[in-house]
Amino acid sequence: MRIILLGPPGAGKGTQAAGIVEKYNIPHISTGDIFRKNIKEGTELGKKAKGYIDQGLLVPDELTVGLVTDRIAQPDCEKGFMLDGFPRNVAQAQHLDEYLKEVGISLDKVVNIEVDKDILVGRAVGRRICKSCGATYHVEFNPPKVDGVCDVCGGELYQRADDNEETVSKRIQVYLDETKPLVNYYSEEGIIANINGQQSIENVFGDIVEALGSEK
Ligand code: AP5
Ligand code: MG
Ligand code: ZN
Repeated sequence: MRIILLGPPGAGKGTQAAGIVEKYNIPHISTGDIFRKNIKEGTELGKKAKGYIDQGLLVPDELTVGLVTDRIAQPDCEKGFMLDGFPRNVAQAQHLDEYLKEVGISLDKVVNIEVDKDILVGRAVGRRICKSCGATYHVEFNPPKVDGVCDVCGGELYQRADDNEETVSKRIQVYLDETKPLVNYYSEEGIIANINGQQSIENVFGDIVEALGSEK
């Protein structure tokens, strides 16, 4: 199963990714997570990406496309993969298509999680993430049992640096300008599944599984 998760900031891509990769037993490739890890470790890539991420802008394609195609070329992706947050503009989608064609594989589905713009800011600003295991919570919509503590592993919860109102608004604008055109791009390829992201986390997951089919 080769899947792309598409959707605006705060749509629930990361939240749904956790269940999808478990069910279909495929690696979760999140470009946002890769950049954040590089920033934390102070790598060259992290240093270059940080300024863009802090401003809510896209990291340039030169730093992003090769990173993803190298990752897809790893042996654990032979059984499939799930891309979360890539591609994010038409140029990235074209590069990806070219690469997949070159290696003779194709995408099965693009899962497009749709959420109204008005509720996205609240979703992102209220998000909390576990420092140790990466589990995602929301102070209101999906709170941990104990404030600030991860249910899964007991780790400490933190807030992403780009989850303030100003940067989130910028990210939403960038999504509308650069990423949303991909809905058309993949509709034309006939592989898009539009999912209503304004339901409970469980119901969104149910709709995604229905769209993907229960086979691995
Ligand atoms: P990235 O990390 O991909 O961020 P994003 O696309 O802005 O998406 P988010 O992670 O904010 O949202 P999500 O959809 O994963 O939502 P989540 O499940 O956490 O990218 C960050 C930055 O990296 C970019 O701005 C860019 O600079 C750079 N970057 C990354 N990829 C790039 C690329 N390809 N090219 C160039 N630059 C790139 O949920 C959000 C909150 O809502 C959580 O608190 C969750 O608990 C809650 N929630 C989830 N589902 C529900 C529900 N159904 N009901 C109620 N609450 C819910
Ligand atoms: Mg995410
Ligand atoms: Zn944890």
